[in-house]
Amino acid sequence: MCGIVGYAGGASPSVRPLEVVLAGLGRLEYRGYDSAGVAVVGPDGLSTAKRAGKLVNLTSALESEPLPPATAAIGHTRWATHGAPTDANAHPHRVGDLALIHNGIVENYAELKQALLADGAHFQSETDTEVVAHLLERAYTGDLTQAMRAVVDRLEGAFTLLAVHTNQPGVVVGARRNSPLVVGLGDGENFLGSDVAAFISATNRALEIGQDQIVTITGEEVRVETFAGERVEPTAFTVDWDASAAVKEGYPSFMDKEIHDQPKAVADTLLGRTSPTGALVLDELRIEESVLRAVDKIIVVACGTAAYSGHVAKYAIEHWCRIPVEVELAHEFRYRDPIVNPRTLVVAISQSGETMDTLMAVRHAREQGAHVLAIVNTHGSTLPREADAVLYTHAGPEVAVASTKAFLAQITACYLLGLYLAQLRGTKFPEELRDALAELQSIPDKVAEVLSREEEVRAEARAMHEATSVLFLGRHVGYPVALEGALKLKEIAYIHAEGFAAGELKHGPIALVEPGQPVFIIVPSPRGRDVLHQKVVSNIQEVRARGARTLVIAEEGDEAVVPYADVIFRVPQTSTLLSPLVAVVPLQIFASELATAKGLDVDQPRNLAKSVTVE
Ligand code: F6R
Repeated sequence: MCGIVGYAGGASPSVRPLEVVLAGLGRLEYRGYDSAGVAVVGPDGLSTAKRAGKLVNLTSALESEPLPPATAAIGHTRWATHGAPTDANAHPHRVGDLALIHNGIVENYAELKQALLADGAHFQSETDTEVVAHLLERAYTGDLTQAMRAVVDRLEGAFTLLAVHTNQPGVVVGARRNSPLVVGLGDGENFLGSDVAAFISATNRALEIGQDQIVTITGEEVRVETFAGERVEPTAFTVDWDASAAVKEGYPSFMDKEIHDQPKAVADTLLGRTSPTGALVLDELRIEESVLRAVDKIIVVACGTAAYSGHVAKYAIEHWCRIPVEVELAHEFRYRDPIVNPRTLVVAISQSGETMDTLMAVRHAREQGAHVLAIVNTHGSTLPREADAVLYTHAGPEVAVASTKAFLAQITACYLLGLYLAQLRGTKFPEELRDALAELQSIPDKVAEVLSREEEVRAEARAMHEATSVLFLGRHVGYPVALEGALKLKEIAYIHAEGFAAGELKHGPIALVEPGQPVFIIVPSPRGRDVLHQKVVSNIQEVRARGARTLVIAEEGDEAVVPYADVIFRVPQTSTLLSPLVAVVPLQIFASELATAKGLDVDQPRNLAKSVTVE
C-alpha cells in the first residue's frame, strides 16, 4: 500500500530526478491510486506538487506548472488510511524546508499530534504523516540522517519514511519498520523504492533494507545503519525481472497481459527445479531434510487469491505426502491460539511478500517454534527475510491489482513442494511422482490452448455485462477455483458473486437460484474419479431444474455435461489435481472482459491496492 520512490544523483541539477520518480510512480501505482505527489530539491530549494486522484492528475498539473531542475526527488502514490484522498492529505507533507512521504500507519500519531499542537505546530492535513514531518523538522540541526534517528524511536506502528531537506539538496534519507523499502544501485545515481518495480528500468542491482534501519543515499553513496546508529552492511541482490515485464506490451490492460503471461509464469516456476534424472531439486528450501521428514502438519497462511492457491494445494499435498494440511487466512491465524510446534511446517504464500497479515502470521508461527517456508514472487521483499526458507515463484512483476499469473505460479510452486516432500518422505512410488511432474510440465501448453479460445469467453462476458449476481460451484479442487472465480468478478467488475462447494448447495445456497441466475460450474475430469464427476453433473442438473443459466467449464470430450449446459467452455484434458491450473483461466478472462464491458478500470479497481501493508 502506498508506493514510494526516491532518487539522488547528478552533480548538476536536471529534470532527471523528477522523471525517474514519476516513471517509478507509474510502475508503483498499483500500490495505491487515491492521490500522488512529488518533492524535488536542488539549488532552487525545495518544491512540491501533489494532487488527489490518479497519477495522471499530478502529471497534467506538472505540465502546466513545471518544477525546477533538481539533484534529488521523492514521490508517493497513496492508498488512504488517515484522512480522505484530497490534495491536502496527499504526500509529500512539507514543513518548513523539509518534505516527507510515508507508507504505513503511525499508531501513536494522536498523542504526538496533541503534544505538537500544544507546542504551537500548525497542521495542513488530517494525516498521521504530517505529525512525523513536524517532528523531523524540529529534530533537524543540519543532518537529516541524525534527525531521522531521533524521530523513529518515538513512532509506533508501521512505516517507511523518505525525507529531503533544502540544506542537503543531493540527499534522500529513508527509514523502515514493518513496511517495505529497497535500494537500487546506479552509476552516479541511486534509488529507493517500496519494491524493485520503482527502479527496474534503470538498474537490476539492489540492496535489502532490514527492519529498523535507516538509509541515506546520494548519487555516489548508500549508507545503511540501525535505528541506534550502528553501520550495517546490507545484503545485495540482483533483480531477475526484465523491465519490459512492467509494461502492457499492446494489451488493453495489465491484467490481460498477465493472463497471457501465464504459460511462461508456470514454465519459469518449474524451470531448473528437476535434475537430469527427473528428481526434484529445490535448493532454495534451506530447511534441513531431517526437519522436513519429521513434519507432522502443514499450515498454509495467506490472504485472498494466495490463500485460494493454498486451498488448491492442500488436496495435492495431502494426497502425495499424507501430511494433514490446514489452510488459514493469515489474519485469522494470528489472532486465535493456533496449535503450532517445531514439527509444524507453516507455508506462507504471497505475491508481494509484503502483506502485513501474512507477515504477522509468520512471526507468530516462528515464535511458537514452527518452521516457515515462504512462497513469494517479489525479490527483495520482507517475507523471505522473515522465513526460514523461500521458494520463489517466477511469475515476473504482477501489476494489475487482481492477481492472475501469480495464482498459477503459486499453485505450481506448492505442487513442487508437495512432490519434493513426497519424494523425500517416500510416501508415493517414484513413478507416480514422475508422472505428476511430467503432467505439471505440460501445463504451460494447456494454458496456452485455453487462451487460444478466449474469444468465446469474452463474447459471453460482454453479453452478460448487466448481470448483478453470479454464482460459482465446484467440488474438490474445483471449490477453490469457484472461490477464485467469484473473487475476480467481485473485485474488478463489482458484481455480487459467490463461490460454493457444490455439495453445500442443498444446505442453503440453492435458495438463491431463481430463473435466469447465471451459475458457473467447474467440472472435474470424467477420466479420474468417476464419482466426483457424476456428483458435479448432478449439481448442474439441480440448479438448472430451478431455472439457472449454467455456464460449464468442462474438459474436451466430456459429453455428459452437454444436455445440462447452456454454455460450455472447454479446457484440455487434465488430471483432477492439476485441473485448477487450466479451469481458472476462463474465469479470469470472463471477469476482465465483463469489467471492461462495464467501462471499469480493470487494473485499478476502486478501494483496493495491490500490496496490503497494513493489518
Ligand atoms: C486478489 C488479490 C488479493 C491478494 C491478497 C494477498 O486478486 O490479488 O486477494 O491475493 O491481497 O496478496 P499477496 O499475495 O501479495 O500476499
